[in-house]
Amino acid sequence: DQRLTARIAIVTVSDRAASGEYEDKGGPGAEAWLREVVTSPMEIARHIIPDGREGVAAKLRELAELGSDLILVTGGTGPSPRDQTPEAVIDVMDKELAGFGEEMRRASLLEVPTAILSRQTAAIRDASLIITLPGNPSAIATCLNAVFAAVPYCLDLMG
Ligand code: MTE
Repeated sequence: DQRLTARIAIVTVSDRAASGEYEDKGGPGAEAWLREVVTSPMEIARHIIPDGREGVAAKLRELAELGSDLILVTGGTGPSPRDQTPEAVIDVMDKELAGFGEEMRRASLLEVPTAILSRQTAAIRDASLIITLPGNPSAIATCLNAVFAAVPYCLDLMG
């Protein structure tokens, strides 16, 4: 049954990964985490795009339109001028789920004091749950471990 297969998109937001200057480790890391933890059927697609509010917003609109259940975005959450992922999420969201960002930062702060620099959050657009993660590959498991238990119920409630 196609409806029981979760459609998941993983979006790496990084100028350097998009240009090929360095290898994307966050996207594959997020996929590996999901494949290890989630036992129900999933269809996972990965994307790599440059930093920037317009491009990230356009990609999120496209993925929501395609019917993604979950969109994981890694990178662009920090304080640098090119870090505009949270602004792009705000541009496209119907509702913010601020608790995700609060809990991911809390869990990350137990490991690194610089976790306070991440403006990561989560939001709903149409029937898609969007969760943003820091770009550092080591942040992926910390953040997903902290909040993922709430994801299936959230998707249920979203209808
Ligand atoms: N969270 C965890 N768990 N581990 C990390 O290494 N790095 C921090 C923070 N959160 C980090 C973390 C740093 S240094 C920054 S600048 C912000 O995430 C934003 O990262 P981003 O711009 O790649 O999204």
